[in-house]
Amino acid sequence: MNIEEITGKLSWLPASLARFIEKRMKKIPSVKKMIDAENEKVMHVLEHSLKPYSDKFDKYPILPATGLNREKILADIQQMNELESGKWKDGYVSGGIYHGSQEHIDFLNKVYALQSQSNPLHSDLFPSATKFEAEIVSMVATLHGKTVVGANSSICGTVSSGGTESILLAMKTYRDKAREERGITEPEMIVPVTAHAAFDKASQYFNIKQVKIAVTGNYTVDVNAVKRAINNNTIVIVGSAPSFPHGTFDAIKELSDIALKHKIGFHTDCCLGGFVVPFAEKLGYKVPVVDFRLPGVTSMSVDTHKYGYAAKGTSVVLYRDEALRHYQFYTSTEWPGGLYFSPTLAGSRPGALSAACWAAMLAMGEEGYLQATKAILETADKIKAGILSIPELKILGEPLWIFAIASDSLNIYEVLDQMTKKGWNLNGLHKPACFHLALTLRQTQPGVAERFIQDLKDSVAYVKTNPGSKDGMAPVYGMASSLPFRGIVSDILKKYLDVVYKV
Ligand SMILES: Cc1ncc(COP(=O)(O)O)c(C=O)c1O
Repeated sequence: MNIEEITGKLSWLPASLARFIEKRMKKIPSVKKMIDAENEKVMHVLEHSLKPYSDKFDKYPILPATGLNREKILADIQQMNELESGKWKDGYVSGGIYHGSQEHIDFLNKVYALQSQSNPLHSDLFPSATKFEAEIVSMVATLHGKTVVGANSSICGTVSSGGTESILLAMKTYRDKAREERGITEPEMIVPVTAHAAFDKASQYFNIKQVKIAVTGNYTVDVNAVKRAINNNTIVIVGSAPSFPHGTFDAIKELSDIALKHKIGFHTDCCLGGFVVPFAEKLGYKVPVVDFRLPGVTSMSVDTHKYGYAAKGTSVVLYRDEALRHYQFYTSTEWPGGLYFSPTLAGSRPGALSAACWAAMLAMGEEGYLQATKAILETADKIKAGILSIPELKILGEPLWIFAIASDSLNIYEVLDQMTKKGWNLNGLHKPACFHLALTLRQTQPGVAERFIQDLKDSVAYVKTNPGSKDGMAPVYGMASSLPFRGIVSDILKKYLDVVYKV
């Protein structure tokens, strides 16, 4: 029997029973041997795709005895750049690179070069970093309800390294606040199943029990189930605006009202929406209010390095007031190294990234973001109409500019494989089986939307006449999503990371 046959026979098992059986089965030598053989097969394929430069560039498993010629180093990096940029420049990539025009990139690179030695940890040496970060936070906060005077004037935050760090910081903040103010030692967070994996990471890192809530038919969290999940240990409720998998918006108003009523925190994950939703609203699109204008919202994550069009490596976490933000900060008063304090997870940080983020926001200005948002939403409408004109396909929920495509009649992963063969780099998702396209400015270039729809039509036509392919990723996706033994899947992912670090 192989893994696929086991999957077929045991997919009905409840998760807890599957975990129990898995633990037992892994101890049987013949089963262990079979799992190892399967792993080996997968790793072989992965190694090939993860290490395409093995025979193209020199390898350096140890330091060169003497420094290499700087020209050679630059030439190698330049060559790798050229090999890697074609796809995303031409709009074949979902998400990932959000702006990508050469002029914008050159500008950010200039700023980075000017500030490459800056470290916000040393605010005395680099007051520029302090200025940039304070202004980034303030600009982002005013996009999300901060006012100059009045109830919302206390909204504050910090710059972090990305959406994941912003989320980790917010969850740690709620844990520490609940411990200090309510004596909660077994904290729980209520999280939609569709919320980003960063919440699961926070749960694992900070020992916060995660209560996962299913979504309803429109791929937004079940609000009644959230209500039922609240107990004395609940510290925070989470909602996405929108979610990564399906681009749908949880009912942030209802959820934040519930949190307010129960005097617990509410976090809007606006990592994807933070620089689209406020401008969509100004443009007159029907978008929900998801920010601090709702009295129950106590924190938000907003990614500057996505639709804020900064270089990779910055995000903003916002809080309703400084008292809440204090639970995020770290201070050490007894360390022989001196008085030490830092706002986020890292110690030393790249001030150049904050400088480039600040510069990106200034260069875009409100008008730039309005134009970008308009282009993205108009392209999204065009592509959504194209998808819906293909009878075998459907869009899950009611998304705006990030949409998941599924099928009731075809194996959607086989369609995804065909799209991959045509050069597209889309995200394969599961539970349910689908793939998604997160539209960026790259897809607003002339002809890209039309190319996407034509390729999708051709891919569907191919899969209709040639179903059941055994090549590509379709069988792997199918197996990985239906295998009842999630520990085996987790082991494969860890081995994948081992391959990443193989020279
Ligand atoms: C909704 C949402 N939240 C959080 C994140 C995590 O962001 P990052 O990859 O910058 O850590 C993402 C990333 O795509 C996201 O889509």
